[in-house]
Amino acid sequence: MSWLLIQGDARRILRGFSPGSIHLVVTSPPYPGVPLWGAEDEVQRICDEVMEECARVLVDGGVLCWQIANIPRGDRGLAPNVPLAVEKAAQCGLVWRGEIVWNKGSNAPPLGRMLDRPAIPPLCHEYILVFFKGNRAPREERAPSFGSMFNYAITSVWNIAPQSKSIGHPTPYPVALVERCIFLWSLEGEVVLDPFCGVGTTGVAAARMKRRFIGIDLNRDYLLIARRRISEEIVGSPNQPRLFLE
Ligand SMILES: C[S@@+](CC[C@H](N)C(=O)[O-])C[C@H]1O[C@@H](n2cnc3c(N)ncnc32)[C@H](O)[C@@H]1O
Repeated sequence: MSWLLIQGDARRILRGFSPGSIHLVVTSPPYPGVPLWGAEDEVQRICDEVMEECARVLVDGGVLCWQIANIPRGDRGLAPNVPLAVEKAAQCGLVWRGEIVWNKGSNAPPLGRMLDRPAIPPLCHEYILVFFKGNRAPREERAPSFGSMFNYAITSVWNIAPQSKSIGHPTPYPVALVERCIFLWSLEGEVVLDPFCGVGTTGVAAARMKRRFIGIDLNRDYLLIARRRISEEIVGSPNQPRLFLE
């Protein structure tokens, strides 16, 4: 198995990838509307351009899992991140085949104002939008039986507690969320990409599930944490994740 981490702007890095070189993308982009990631328009542009590249590099029958939420922006209301992602995916020729509601449960930090009138119920859920390249996945015939993952495969609401930020990133997602995506939409040995890799959560799940992995992020410190986390999953393997820093 091989793993690769690359520091840089995913838009530029992905332009160097061959078409049809990736089987599955699982990613959580910087959310437009979250000031931490920069001006909303610019973040939206990054998301759109990276999605275009993901569509180009996926194999025919490949899958893009885009984990996103509609984020409250105070008096401007919710940032419409889900509809904008769906519209962009259609422009990229991807087919919207699934919508998973990630129920973060009551532990989730409340994003809303319950005491206002009219009240704004706190958002305790996010989404995984599932897009296929092509109308059906040619690789479906080779899919393994569901086994212990059966419970996840038959429902579009996944109850998973959020990942603690103490891992070294302000907005990590949980490994369990990615494991389900990798199980449902890829096979052992295939290549999984996360163009917004952060501290490498997708890579941890990919290593556990014997998939090859490519992670890209702008931030060097996050990638150093990613390398350590992924290495811990592949103890005893001579193939430690290679890391290319700018
Ligand atoms: C929502 S976080 C992803 C967190 C990741 N899922 C994890 O569990 O660690 C989005 C990430 O995108 C990165 N990012 C923002 N703009 C980028 C760009 N143009 N190219 C590559 N990475 C970028 C940020 O540094 C951040 O780590």
